[in-house]
Amino acid sequence: MAIDFNHTILSAHDSRASANFLAEILGLPAPTHWGPFEMVTTANGANLDYMEVAGEITPQHYAFLVSEAEFDAIFGRVRDRKLPYWADPGRTKPGEINHHDSGRGVYFEEINGHLLEIITRPYGSGGWNP
Ligand SMILES: [Fe+2]
Repeated sequence: MAIDFNHTILSAHDSRASANFLAEILGLPAPTHWGPFEMVTTANGANLDYMEVAGEITPQHYAFLVSEAEFDAIFGRVRDRKLPYWADPGRTKPGEINHHDSGRGVYFEEINGHLLEIITRPYGSGGWNP
């Protein structure tokens, strides 16, 4: 099969500020604009398209596979900005990271409350299977 994940839409109150935040914290190229979207593109060509909505935003979850060096850089920016972070998606382990699959992982929020995750090993790649 030749099916690649291409894009998703993230609700935002300020799509430009949100896309800038995401690109900056992850160290990705500056967002681009298309139609109603401010788009952040990952290295595998997938777009995260911020779109402005009125009212309450239901937080979603977005995870990014990064190298060990990228983890250091991104996690450094998270700490520099004094953003809260957790080792788990349930947020029961604040101020910690995890080592699932013999890698590193951490969760933090972007500015709309969407829960971001960076991992250095894909789920299950190191035998971790809770
Ligand atoms: Fe996840």
